[in-house]
Amino acid sequence: MCGIVAYIGRRPAVPILIGGLKRLEYRGYDSAGVAVAVTDGLLGVRRCRGRLANLEALLVKAPLAGNVGIGHTRWATHGRPSDENAHPHRVGGVCVVHNGIIENHIGLRARLRGTGREFTSETDTEIVAHLVDEALKQGATSLLEASRKALRQVEGAYAIVLISQDHPGELVAAKNASPMVLGIGEGETFIASDAPALLEHTRNVVFLDEGDIVHLTHAGYTITDLEGAKRERPSRILDWSAEQAEKGGFPHFMLKEIFEQPTAVTNTLRGRLLVPESDVTLDGQEIDTRSLSRLVIVACGTSYHAGLVGKFMIESAARLPVEVDLASEFRYRDPVVGPHDLVVAISQSGETADTLAALKEAKSRGARTLAISNVLDSAIPRAADFTLYTHAGIEIGVASTKCFTAQLAALMLLAIHLGRRTGTLSPGNAQELISQLLLIPQKMENTLKELGDLKELAERYKDVPGFLFMGRGTNYPIALEGALKLKEISYIHAEGYAAGEMKHGPIALIDDGIPVVVIAPKGHGYEKVLSNMSEVRAREGQVIAVATHGDKIISEQCQSVLWVPDAPSLLQPLLTVLPLQLLSYAVSLARGNDVDQPRNLAKSVTVE
Ligand code: G6P
Repeated sequence: MCGIVAYIGRRPAVPILIGGLKRLEYRGYDSAGVAVAVTDGLLGVRRCRGRLANLEALLVKAPLAGNVGIGHTRWATHGRPSDENAHPHRVGGVCVVHNGIIENHIGLRARLRGTGREFTSETDTEIVAHLVDEALKQGATSLLEASRKALRQVEGAYAIVLISQDHPGELVAAKNASPMVLGIGEGETFIASDAPALLEHTRNVVFLDEGDIVHLTHAGYTITDLEGAKRERPSRILDWSAEQAEKGGFPHFMLKEIFEQPTAVTNTLRGRLLVPESDVTLDGQEIDTRSLSRLVIVACGTSYHAGLVGKFMIESAARLPVEVDLASEFRYRDPVVGPHDLVVAISQSGETADTLAALKEAKSRGARTLAISNVLDSAIPRAADFTLYTHAGIEIGVASTKCFTAQLAALMLLAIHLGRRTGTLSPGNAQELISQLLLIPQKMENTLKELGDLKELAERYKDVPGFLFMGRGTNYPIALEGALKLKEISYIHAEGYAAGEMKHGPIALIDDGIPVVVIAPKGHGYEKVLSNMSEVRAREGQVIAVATHGDKIISEQCQSVLWVPDAPSLLQPLLTVLPLQLLSYAVSLARGNDVDQPRNLAKSVTVE
């Protein structure tokens, strides 16, 4: 995700902005920029693609002197990384920096174009600068009033800071569904997307809430809502270390990212669900299903497990056959693939060498290709005919969590899109899936809250020689993912199995020393998993069940239960994976491992 820093006070703004942005570098970015109200009453903007060092070099050649300014590091979501797409965006005398996604950008852009306005970037952010400039030209008497008028037209997630040439001693900041924090100093005020950017200057902070608009002047700040009603927000003294602040107060990035999943999934769905039409838009891309006879999903690691769930989603909604292959196998197999196939490459990093090679192989054989990725303009989306970004925000923990659930959400979107086009998904059934999908983020939030830290469970099992995971249907891939997560960070041997396969071998492993995680939510295949569970119990196996709230049958039969809410089978993986992520995290911690940087693993594997 992008970083924002803004400053108003008596000191030169540029070093404070650059210093703050450097504190956010760990989050990743592809371009950077600043805008400063320079002392002669004009706005100066410097921005460029690449590292902050490039921006600093630019500022050495063309300095900006002034003590009110805004700064940004961009991680591309709309429009590739380039000088033109870097923030701040300027329209007339208004400059803006923005984190988040403007959902109704297509409609707003068309309306603004209709009034003769021209755009110089591919970003959704530039629209906000146009809207504020328009409001000022239409007679808004202050930057605050113009910003309110502009933001009332905007739907989506944003953390925004605005500065205007005609109002040099002011900043306006607004927050909706993207984080933003205010830092209060002596005769100076700071705004940042994340606390690490301002801790060096002040620990007296106000965490802003949804719909807050802050008006900052040299005299201080006021917080109101979009209609102008005053809002009181308590300040607090932050006692986090710089390292804790980077992790948003969590002890590890992985835990922070586990808890970010409701937001990640919301961001993946944002702007793509067409509720009145019972349809899904893939950002305006149309996949013609008339000549489509099959899908082939290629991926590695956790993304491969998302693909296995995707098979259920797509086959159920679109009734098209789906094959799922490990990218490293597919590419060397002389695969049977051609013009009637859609090859879907899933990769959070967008750079995995095997997945990229598999996609190119498919393309060279005439297949159409679609990339599902979290990194805009990375190699895999660049090579594909269609792209679907997950917008989960940067993932730093090596063991993937929020990118996985965001991939599941993206695959469900793809399934609905295809199903509506093949005609196999009726408007009513699509509507039902869409409403169930919309309930998922809140269910995830509740589940994470209720599960707690699983410390006791982890202490009990931290020294076992191995774990087994089993599930059926859509939860079979979750058994595989649960085992992979545990292996990755706890270094305990773990295997995932289709529950029905237990009796064909793995059951020989069962005794009272090997915990078996049974994923058994109510729904399709539930009774079958129950009988598989009994087979384990009969052999003294220790069962940890993942079960639907209130399922007494399960709770009477096993040692521990991790509860999840009810959901349709296709969407259950978005919930059943959560306790398994938390369990792996807790076991890894109990064993004293480095959770975020497990041994021998890399976040992005760009070699074969
Ligand atoms: C590495 C990571 C895994 C990831 C896999 C595929 O092995 O450690 O977490 O699942 O690569 O990565 P991708 O970026 O293609 O999803």
